[in-house]
Amino acid sequence: MKTSTQTAQQTRRLPVRFRLRPVRREDLDWVEALERELCPDPWPRGAFETQMRNPYTEMWVAVVEGNEGGKERVIGYLVLWIHEDAVEVANIGVAQAYQGRKVGSALLEKALDTARRLGKTYVYLDVRMDNHKALQWYLRRGFQIERRLPRYYRIPPNRWEDGLRMVKKIAP
Ligand SMILES: CC(C)(COP(=O)(O)OP(=O)(O)OC[C@H]1O[C@@H](n2cnc3c(N)ncnc32)[C@H](O)[C@@H]1OP(=O)(O)O)[C@@H](O)C(=O)NCCC(=O)NCCS
Repeated sequence: MKTSTQTAQQTRRLPVRFRLRPVRREDLDWVEALERELCPDPWPRGAFETQMRNPYTEMWVAVVEGNEGGKERVIGYLVLWIHEDAVEVANIGVAQAYQGRKVGSALLEKALDTARRLGKTYVYLDVRMDNHKALQWYLRRGFQIERRLPRYYRIPPNRWEDGLRMVKKIAP
């Protein structure tokens, strides 16, 4: 007999039809809600709004069609900062209910594609040291640990955690 946990995990792994597109203002309610669901110290709404106005930022969302052709639903998001030589993954997340279905991989591939398109030499990101799942996930996708970032993340109310800077070179 299947337990409800087994059933939930198997459902999660079923393929899902989604597409990536640039963020729109009307997506921000979804993005804000996902960020709260996923992060111990979430970006506030205003941070996403500011990023939308920043010419050196690209923001993408992963969307699924709503029931019976209804409005699209945002299930993942990606914030990229464009630097002189590199693209930085400033934020990435996938709704828990949709994790394990390659949505995150597609978003990360978008970051790598963006770096190639803009002629950058590497992609980098920072991750909390105790976010083992994300850390292993990046390592499996060819990112390497460059250095430790002492007391880099604030975990409310008053705890600090080290981070890791991870880098992946883009083939010329
Ligand atoms: C890290 C994150 C973006 C990955 O997104 P995702 O859509 O789950 O990614 P994918 O489906 O492409 O890959 C998930 C991996 O977990 C595995 N997996 C298997 N079953 C799973 C399940 N039930 N749930 C989640 N992952 C599962 C997948 O097989 C895959 O393994 P692989 O690396 O060997 O391919 C997502 O977990 C997330 O949003 N985490 C919270 C926010 C976060 O930590 N962001 C990064 C901060 S730097």
